[in-house]
Amino acid sequence: MDTLKNFSRTTYCGEPRTGDIGREISVCGWVARRRDLGQLIFIDLRDRAGILQLAFDDSTDREVFSKAETLRGEFVVAASGVLRERSSKNTEIPTGEVELEVRELRILAKSETPPFEITDETDVNDALRLKYRYLDLRRPDMQRVIMMRHRAVKIARDYFDENGFLEIETPMLTKSTPEGARDYLVPSRTHPGKFYALPQSPQQYKQLLMLSGFDRYFQIVRCFRDEDLRADRQPEFTQLDLEMSFVDIEDVIAINEGFLQRLFKEIAGVDITTPIPRLTWREAMDRFGSDKPDIRFGLELCDISDIVKDCDFKVFAEPVAAGGSVRAIHVPGGGAMPRKQVDSLVEFVKTYGAKGLAWTKIAEDESLTSSYSKFLTEEENAAIISKSGAAAGGLVLIVADADDEAVFAALGALRIECAKRMDLIDKDDFKFVWITEFPLFEYSREDDRYVAKHHPFTAPMDEDADLLDTDKVSARAKAYDIVLNGTELGGGSIRINTPEIQVKMFKALGFTEEDAQQRFGHLISAFQYGAPPHGGLAYGMDRLVMLLCGAESIRDVIAFPKVQNASEPMTGCPDIVDESQLAELGVKIL
Ligand code: AMO
Ligand code: AMP
Repeated sequence: MDTLKNFSRTTYCGEPRTGDIGREISVCGWVARRRDLGQLIFIDLRDRAGILQLAFDDSTDREVFSKAETLRGEFVVAASGVLRERSSKNTEIPTGEVELEVRELRILAKSETPPFEITDETDVNDALRLKYRYLDLRRPDMQRVIMMRHRAVKIARDYFDENGFLEIETPMLTKSTPEGARDYLVPSRTHPGKFYALPQSPQQYKQLLMLSGFDRYFQIVRCFRDEDLRADRQPEFTQLDLEMSFVDIEDVIAINEGFLQRLFKEIAGVDITTPIPRLTWREAMDRFGSDKPDIRFGLELCDISDIVKDCDFKVFAEPVAAGGSVRAIHVPGGGAMPRKQVDSLVEFVKTYGAKGLAWTKIAEDESLTSSYSKFLTEEENAAIISKSGAAAGGLVLIVADADDEAVFAALGALRIECAKRMDLIDKDDFKFVWITEFPLFEYSREDDRYVAKHHPFTAPMDEDADLLDTDKVSARAKAYDIVLNGTELGGGSIRINTPEIQVKMFKALGFTEEDAQQRFGHLISAFQYGAPPHGGLAYGMDRLVMLLCGAESIRDVIAFPKVQNASEPMTGCPDIVDESQLAELGVKIL
């Protein structure tokens, strides 16, 4: 095998252009493709910058030519020579008008035949790609994504630095606190029976940094949550986390709009107009059935409870009487959907917990076919059509439920499903929206009590502070989420900065004073020493990059992601450990 002795690379494979013709250059990379035409050998050499064609012909030194004959896919080589014009040009790649007339060739490493071809066109399954992730990452598409991610992180660091934010690291081994997702725990060897928790976010630390007077903090930080995975969730993920002192909602929003504007301009060439529109949580739910609405298309919800509350059709009347609602969406052009497709929409909403889906198809001649119209009066039917804004050729879809949340969940998802089916979503459109005025509390079925919707340190809106004692369910929080095209990119809040309100908050959450002391004692005591008004936000960095590069899953923008069951196919973790390791930690497997 050759070495790099006295060889130094001058150029990345993807760089040479016609202006470089005649120059002597040296490149290194992997053999992406080899065409051996007998007297002529062409090698596509790949590195992170692109592909360059190496040419070997009758002018090539015989020894070099023989060596070129032994090259195979993914061999690692170094080559130098003179750049020349290519006789048959390739307009598909940036270096397609030039090639390297090779004078010196070194083989630095050989390669086995890889388990799949390393090209962007590969249709190899995900399991194999992830098992051989290091090879998958050689694909130009993956290299572009990872490099884009680097640039996004760099822009974030530059922007927040320029705006006076300090990057400060916070611990990875921390204390388990309730009120979040499930923790990843780490047993302590020196304190048998005790555990650290990996941070779900640096929330408490960043608040304490404000108390310490650092004024503006940010961090690109790994967070850990033991939750069920989805396309936009990983057990470990990266936050771009920030916190500011002496601010209110408007200040946090302004600094972040500046960041998003710069990031999307520099990376995607997209101009975001500011101010970014805002919706209160209530309005987002009422109009889109979701607190992370995709506002690239309409299909808005409309409340028809008033129309049907006294009707004879129990499916509609009973949920309203029970405190729920009946809501509809109108899908223009949906009237042409074959019955089978409408039936599949019925099945679709059931997967979101709806008990059924009522529908009316309006033909072009305005004649109606409906699953429910026979149960209603003519006036009621007409009122539904009119209120939902339906017109000839349209489809009206209705969900009724005694639980408002079930109606929102079903119609919120159905709206997106219908937009996909009707091809209403412009993939190149970036529609941001801030969601504000979230409820401070939400009911948790699992815990059978009210929990903090954001987290227990989130401040109530000034005008709602008194509701903490009287009507906590109606209290709104100084919390905000930034949403892009239906994905929650980030969220944050203005925090409680006085011990009195913090104590009230813990009380409202049902903690005894002892519980609160045991779990949050360090914060409660810290807040007695002068906490400035402060607030912040955290972005899911993986989600940001996913949307910036049009990926479908955050898995595609993480170098070494985990799969559905939270394992990592390449290293095979999680894995068993030695008995002796367990004994040292005082841990027994049941
Ligand atoms: P939150 O819990 O909303 O807020 O998290 C902030 C953002 O992190 C991203 N995110 C995730 N990304 C990938 N996989 C996951 N499992 C995952 N969970 C969350 C989302 C989300 O918007 N400390 C607060 C922020 C604050 O109040 O300042 C927090 O962590 O994009
Ligand atoms: P049924 O009386 O069960 O034949 O239902 C008549 C119509 O009402 C059917 O189209 C059902 O799918 C629909 N339906 C049933 N439950 C609901 C519900 N919770 N919300 C909306 N439509 C429903």
